[in-house]
Amino acid sequence: MLDFINELRDSHKQVDNAIKHYLVMFLNRDISLLTQAIRYSVLLGGKRLRPFLVYQTGKLFGIKSSRLNAPAAAIECIHAYSLIHDDLPVMDNDKLRRGYPTCHVKFGEAIAILAGDALHTLAFTILAEAHMPTIADQDRLKMIATLAAASGANGMCLGQSLDLINKNNKNVSATQLETIYQYKTGSLIRAAVRIGALSAGNKSHDALESLDHYATTIGLAFQIRDDIIDTSSHAYKNKKGEQVRSIRQSKHDHTNTYSKVLGLNTARSKAEELYYESLTSLKCIAKLGYNTSTLSAFSRYIIKRSD
Ligand code: IPE
Ligand code: IPE
Ligand code: MG
Ligand code: MG
Ligand code: MG
Repeated sequence: MLDFINELRDSHKQVDNAIKHYLVMFLNRDISLLTQAIRYSVLLGGKRLRPFLVYQTGKLFGIKSSRLNAPAAAIECIHAYSLIHDDLPVMDNDKLRRGYPTCHVKFGEAIAILAGDALHTLAFTILAEAHMPTIADQDRLKMIATLAAASGANGMCLGQSLDLINKNNKNVSATQLETIYQYKTGSLIRAAVRIGALSAGNKSHDALESLDHYATTIGLAFQIRDDIIDTSSHAYKNKKGEQVRSIRQSKHDHTNTYSKVLGLNTARSKAEELYYESLTSLKCIAKLGYNTSTLSAFSRYIIKRSD
């Protein structure tokens, strides 16, 4: 577990350096309000789990992490954009993100929308233009297509729209919630794993199906765990019985989440079930001769994490 925590910390630093590098490379040097909002949202706090998956999937096939800085940074830009927009008053209306004021609270709604838009396009500028000497052009194109498909109307945006439409749906079912989660959160997690695999070209071909199944299971488990954390942090009261403003304070009470609709125990069992399913996929990958120990530690981390 210690090795895993160290790896997570190292890849966090590595992708942050890469993001800083690309911000200098691709944004104007003058510090406009927009640039400040972009830096604030992409660099302050966060776990960098999607970049970790890009690096670790590449590593399975012997690809050095230094070769994967561009796709790792690109996917984090998409994630950061999705969070800025997710927090807006018209969406979840959250005031805090990662323990700090949300982008629109700090910079105003218009700048927040634009910072999200600019991070969205920056992701594709990075993927299209960054120096990636060991990645074949056709694989770079597949990475761009993968990230675009995962982010758009058949992926994350679809999930966000279904999430919002079903906010007040009292009859929402477990299956409907799982579908929403697969799109809103699972899409980018699957893309992270696929992009890591694409960096190895044909070498990863035999493992692609199992990797995709792995990513699907941990993607769903990840969002269910997110709900459990949100629900539990809501329930937290201080000694006087007052609601304590936790890091996740002011979460949208009206949103339907797995743990609220089905209860914390069912949510925990579902996350556990998905954890074991993810290990089954990893066994298939290990049979092909790859070392899946870090991905297996990642699955465990996903269902145990508390932030
Ligand atoms: C939060 O994702 C949004 C969800 C998809 C649940 P993360 O928990 O990965 O957010 P950060 O980047 O670590 O803050
Ligand atoms: C966010 O889901 C999913 C995306 C931004 C795509 P949530 O709305 O549950 O995430 P948090 O709880 O605000 O981090
Ligand atoms: Mg949301
Ligand atoms: Mg939200
Ligand atoms: Mg949440």
